Amino acid sequence: MKQIQGELSNWYQVHKRDLPWRETKNPYFIWLSEIILQQTRVEQGMSYYYTFIHAFPTVFDLAQTDEQVVLNLWQGLGYYSRARNLHRTAKQIVEEFDGNFPDSYEGLLKLKGIGPYTAAAIASFAFDLPHAVLDGNVFRVLSRLYNWSVPINSTQGKKDFEKFSNELLDKENPGLYNQAMMEFGALHCKPTQPLCDECPLSIYCGAFNEKTSGALPVKLKKQGVRKRYFVFELIQPKQGWILLEKRNEKDIWQHLYQFPLKEFTSQEEKDLYLAQKNSAFQSKEYKHILSHQHLFCSFIAVNPSGNDEGELVKLTDLDQYPIPRAIDRFLEDYGHDIFRS
Ligand code: ADE
Repeated sequence: MKQIQGELSNWYQVHKRDLPWRETKNPYFIWLSEIILQQTRVEQGMSYYYTFIHAFPTVFDLAQTDEQVVLNLWQGLGYYSRARNLHRTAKQIVEEFDGNFPDSYEGLLKLKGIGPYTAAAIASFAFDLPHAVLDGNVFRVLSRLYNWSVPINSTQGKKDFEKFSNELLDKENPGLYNQAMMEFGALHCKPTQPLCDECPLSIYCGAFNEKTSGALPVKLKKQGVRKRYFVFELIQPKQGWILLEKRNEKDIWQHLYQFPLKEFTSQEEKDLYLAQKNSAFQSKEYKHILSHQHLFCSFIAVNPSGNDEGELVKLTDLDQYPIPRAIDRFLEDYGHDIFRS
């Protein structure tokens, strides 16, 4: 164990990236970075991290702001429930803990949007508590080191990897060790073409010895994706204005704004609708991928009917409304053209 910890630490000192959230022990900043980095790459997350710590230097600033403002700053990152949880958790920390983050793993776990990974990350980075983080990178490193092919997302696998991760954790330097482990997974023990030839851990690595690293980790396939077929209608009752509607249902994009939407259950049904409408403007189809859903989105111009529902919004104010990334993609491509006239 000690040798592996030592090798990891040496490797980390040489290869680590300078990332801003590694320079702080402030649990609020660390928490912000971890929520942003869930399902977001480090390069993309960095600018959002700076935006958030500048807009909200303390958890009080974040708690006091409107959800709408948070969603707006979050725009482009997707998975908006993260932003809503972020805001709610900030309020919870102010109201229940006087603005202080709980300084124990168990206390952190009670907060909304904080699961075992994030609790371990904050506990170890901010408070140097001995809790091992287990994220995708760490699963991969451990599955190879231990040459362990039990699926990482099976009940047994979760138990096994939990045990491995705590066995290997450097309990004297848990924060540093956790960062090193994640960084090693991200940069060295990569999903494809891991750098085994120059790996300081290869003599300890079961997968290296058995030549199995290409097949590890093993993951059970999740249930199939749901396909949804969307037509967004661009309705401009008067020049320079457009209708928006707010999504309130407990579905994707809750509380975000969209152009009035028609949803279909099949491509055929949607195509039939588009053919009947025969709109003067029809965008290309955007395929937008969420974790369990594939969305097929088209945008058409529709004449006002006189009894359209929605909120009439000035085109020049559109960017004040939090909208889903799928619609943003459309606006980036077509926004200037269709709204100019
Ligand atoms: N991904 C998630 N958390 C991270 C961290 N603290 N450093 C680098 N990448 C990360």
